[in-house]
Amino acid sequence: MSPAELKRAAAARAVGLVEDGMRLGLGTGSTATVFVELLGEKVRAGLKVVGVPTSEATRRAAEAAGIPLTTLDDTPDLDLTIDGADEIDPQLRLIKGGGGALLREKIVAAASRRMVVIVDGAKRVETLGRFPLPIEAVPFGLVATTLAVAAAIRSAGCAGPLTIRKDADGTPFHTDGGHLILDAGLGAIPDPEALARALVAVPGVVEHGLFLGLATGAIVAEAADGQPRIV
Ligand code: 5RP
Repeated sequence: MSPAELKRAAAARAVGLVEDGMRLGLGTGSTATVFVELLGEKVRAGLKVVGVPTSEATRRAAEAAGIPLTTLDDTPDLDLTIDGADEIDPQLRLIKGGGGALLREKIVAAASRRMVVIVDGAKRVETLGRFPLPIEAVPFGLVATTLAVAAAIRSAGCAGPLTIRKDADGTPFHTDGGHLILDAGLGAIPDPEALARALVAVPGVVEHGLFLGLATGAIVAEAADGQPRIV
């Protein structure tokens, strides 16, 4: 199976977790988008759910799929969030934000009783950090913030370059909230909790892509037999 087929298999299994009447968090990224499309088929067949999208891209996909939407302000208590991830370790700790939606994704996940991650097997790691860690920062004072982020990273026993994320045209990437992303190429994060604590203490950092203690389950589509396997 190709990576796309594995993502689809994981997303299809996740649709089976959705029950009538659920209030859902809808994740962002290619895997979450397949979930939204498959969920839309169920909705059009009569399933009643309401969703909170974690990005403008997911909002557009959900609207196209016919999924009724709400906001966290109107529906602050969600039953289940289904989202992708860039990395997942054996403790269900995640790196997210490859698509730049980490802030809304984390707010929505934190408002959900359950967060189930849908990934292909290539996202599984023993130690987080091979995927560059996204760190969302406000544009004001970016140089000072970057220096403080670098110091925070060192204080947590990590090292590696910080790169301002760019769009394809070379201009800085902006999140849905109008912020910038610093991608930290750390290679390995020996103590994710320590790094998370250090990063949130930096003024100017809005959020980071370490999702710790948020995922309650994962559906991993392994390449070995092509069948999704629930962890
Ligand atoms: C977006 C995310 C995505 O969930 C993550 O990047 C995985 O994306 P994909 O399913 O396309 O591999 O965190 O901010």
